[in-house]
Amino acid sequence: MAEQLRAPAFIRQIEPYRAGKPITELAREKGFDPKRILKLASNENPLGVPESARKAAAAAISGANIYPDGNAYALKSEISKRFGVPMDWIVIGNGSDELMGLTCQALLEPGMKTVFSQYYFSVYEIDTHACGSTPVIVPAKGFEIDLDAIVRAIDEKTRIVFLTTPNNPTGLTLSEKDVVSFLERVPPSVTVVLDEAYCDFVPKEERLDSIGLLERYPNLMVARTFSKAYGLAGFRCGFGICAGELPELINRIRPPFNCNTVAQAAAAGCVSDDAFLERVYEMNLKGVAQLEEAFSSLGLRFIPTKSNFILVEIGKGAAALNEALLSRGIIIRPCASFGLPEWIRVSVGTGEQNERFIEALREELPAVRAGN
Ligand SMILES: Cc1ncc(COP(=O)(O)O)c(C=O)c1O
Repeated sequence: MAEQLRAPAFIRQIEPYRAGKPITELAREKGFDPKRILKLASNENPLGVPESARKAAAAAISGANIYPDGNAYALKSEISKRFGVPMDWIVIGNGSDELMGLTCQALLEPGMKTVFSQYYFSVYEIDTHACGSTPVIVPAKGFEIDLDAIVRAIDEKTRIVFLTTPNNPTGLTLSEKDVVSFLERVPPSVTVVLDEAYCDFVPKEERLDSIGLLERYPNLMVARTFSKAYGLAGFRCGFGICAGELPELINRIRPPFNCNTVAQAAAAGCVSDDAFLERVYEMNLKGVAQLEEAFSSLGLRFIPTKSNFILVEIGKGAAALNEALLSRGIIIRPCASFGLPEWIRVSVGTGEQNERFIEALREELPAVRAGN
């Protein structure tokens, strides 16, 4: 047998990230027309790329023979205006998931720990292992993040805590009061990454002013993305904001051209596009109501969401339902990889897309229940 490559055991133990199934993959497997496939698996924006971003991206393409501005000056300056923070608090990532990885690289080393709640975005675990550190996964309270238990799990080896609000896959939020009381109890030498990938979907009256907390807590990094409400998932652009040392530390190891020219332009073009964000928000609220009503009428338990996806309990037949939906050209997210094998996660689409999914679910459920 050929000798194995020399590689760290901590890399070999990593379970690769399982993304939502790509449309093109299902089209190849089933011989479907990709245009007929409905993907409600990765919490993407069904309204598409905003016009403001399209125009800016199109104008930037002809400059793509030149390396990007590695300091992303124009984008940072738009983000700085939008959120009222100094430019040197901002760090740009190739998607916010790259920022999670860079934060781990900047702060971890073998033997150290990260802490986060059960029901988490698996990138936190992968990035922790990739640095030879140990993820400490704190049991949730029901489906809620147990902040008190997270505080108790922090020890002298803890370097990073990941908090996600709204959380993926539950769709549940943390209140500002609870986040502040948590930050008060975390040692200032431990970084708290507040992952707010879905913050623009939270009902306006319930939103947390995370940016307003940054000055008081230099160990807090707020992570945001252009992939969800802004509709730029395929461009790959996210950003972190932190008043402390972290942006400077990350910039030491960040690949110099990690965010490409066209993505930077698209993101700068739409970061203050309130009209688009408002349409997205309104459409999502309606879609949430439409889907939650359908789940209730079908007698399915779900977690009331504050985001653009919903976690629904199907039972033992969840995997069979997933297969049946795939055969109808509908991709949702099975949740076994979140430790919830009897649940599925469905992204909120347009009214028409939600209806197509609900129809298919209604037709497939009797067979799935019979097999439960
Ligand atoms: C909780 C959470 N954080 C971060 C991300 C990463 O988004 P991106 O890398 O596209 O910015 C996702 C993507 O699904 C997510 O669910």
